Amino acid sequence: MEFSVKSGSPEKQRSACIVVGVYEPRRLSAVAEQLDEISGGYISNLLRRGDLEGKSGQMLLLHQVPNILSERVLLVGCGKERELDERQYRQIISKTINTLNETGSMEAVCFLSELHVKGRDTYWKVRQAVEATQDCLYTFNSLKTRKEEARRPLRKIVFNVPTRKELPLGERAVAHGLGIAAGIKVCKDVANLPPNICNPAYLAEQAHKLAADNERITTHVVNEAEMESLGMGSYLAVGRGSVNESLMSVITYNGAGADVKPIVLVGKGLTFDSGGISLKPGEAMDEMKYDMGGAAGVLGAMNSLAQLNLPINVVAILAGCENMPDANAYRPGDILTTMSGQTVEVLNTDAEGRLVLCDALTYVERFDPDVVIDVATLTGACVIALGAHATGLLSSHNPLAHELLNASEQSGDRAWRLPLWDDYADQLESPFADFTNLGGRAAGTITAGLFLSKFTKKYHWAHLDIAGTAWRGGANKGSTGRPVSMLTQYLINRSGQEQGE
Ligand code: BES
Ligand code: MN
Ligand code: ZN
Repeated sequence: MEFSVKSGSPEKQRSACIVVGVYEPRRLSAVAEQLDEISGGYISNLLRRGDLEGKSGQMLLLHQVPNILSERVLLVGCGKERELDERQYRQIISKTINTLNETGSMEAVCFLSELHVKGRDTYWKVRQAVEATQDCLYTFNSLKTRKEEARRPLRKIVFNVPTRKELPLGERAVAHGLGIAAGIKVCKDVANLPPNICNPAYLAEQAHKLAADNERITTHVVNEAEMESLGMGSYLAVGRGSVNESLMSVITYNGAGADVKPIVLVGKGLTFDSGGISLKPGEAMDEMKYDMGGAAGVLGAMNSLAQLNLPINVVAILAGCENMPDANAYRPGDILTTMSGQTVEVLNTDAEGRLVLCDALTYVERFDPDVVIDVATLTGACVIALGAHATGLLSSHNPLAHELLNASEQSGDRAWRLPLWDDYADQLESPFADFTNLGGRAAGTITAGLFLSKFTKKYHWAHLDIAGTAWRGGANKGSTGRPVSMLTQYLINRSGQEQGE
């Protein structure tokens, strides 16, 4: 898809389609008004006849509107003018893109980027439109032998901005939107792959590929032998039941001087989580291929970072591993010695994510990180607490938590903070080891966070639980590409790059 911005009047556009908004009830947006005038009241006539109410997401495609140079005009219902919010704006864009894609317009000039969205500027509207478009057009059919493709797919879209003065803002929004969307696509592609293809070695291959394609990036893969010598007893235990070797990919991006401390991202990369000896029930177990969603998100953010060429240093870890039942698998009751030296009594082999992450979190101390953010499909409890809409955020460092919440607010990739109070700490007490890997049913997301916090004392740390947000189940099953846009937004903010006004 090709994106651009321009600032022009609707009647002068010579395009396959121009897209303009209509508010509820039957009220023309400023741009629609212009078209109406030129066309001698053609549009207002239609509205009077009741063809379009203007409800959010309604579509009416017109052909050969009098005195209009474009072949088609797509009227898009935007709901009540004063109620148009961020979520609705994105939904309207998505519906528009689907309509264009299905009705034969291979290019379009879209004026929806001029709608008034509460508290949001042109940068935001254009960037969100680019991200929503790419999200909408995404398909994963590389493993289908017969591919269904749109006959006349949308190829090119121009977003119009109100004044020429705003063109640079719009252009920056397109560049950022494309960078983020590229990372989201990488995330979705790798996450959607089946676990017989996307195993820890596949993740490592992607990490190597990123380095091969980019001068600023180097990749080192820590294999089981190296983990052994590092004393990563906890990470190794989780992978012991699998024939696929555990591999931890370390991706280093150098965008700033060697004296600038890196931002470290750690992604849980369970390419399949069967639960191990504490085997999961069969229903929807296939979805546990998405248990590498954290690693996919981190890999996606690294791709965005590379494309945007940000002047910061970042280290990303893809903690690849597979959790399987086997004669050699670790068991409930085992006591593991982590890389930090602390011991853990395993009460449930399905609470494996924290066991992999804790050693990765100790490993990253060597980078003298400015901050460490781990990303993980860690707890079913997070799905119960926040559903599919918000990522859980837990952090021991308030400024970092606020920066991440800010990034999530700006990007529209929602997160919500949960506490890490020690009030919950006794849920992890063990009679035999330093603590257990299981906190019981109550506050499962928080006790998992508290477990990780025992390994993150040496730096500023935040944890993102994406169990509810990384993928969608059901008929529309697939990776969402989250939280790539939140992470990339955070990196953009940290690099001091300007964006909106
Ligand atoms: N990967 C799962 C968490 C998960 C479950 C994410 C369902 C998304 C949907 C994780 O490894 C796990 O199994 N967690 C257990 C922890 C429990 C045994 C303490 C869970 O949430 O049930
Ligand atoms: Mn598990
Ligand atoms: Zn898991």
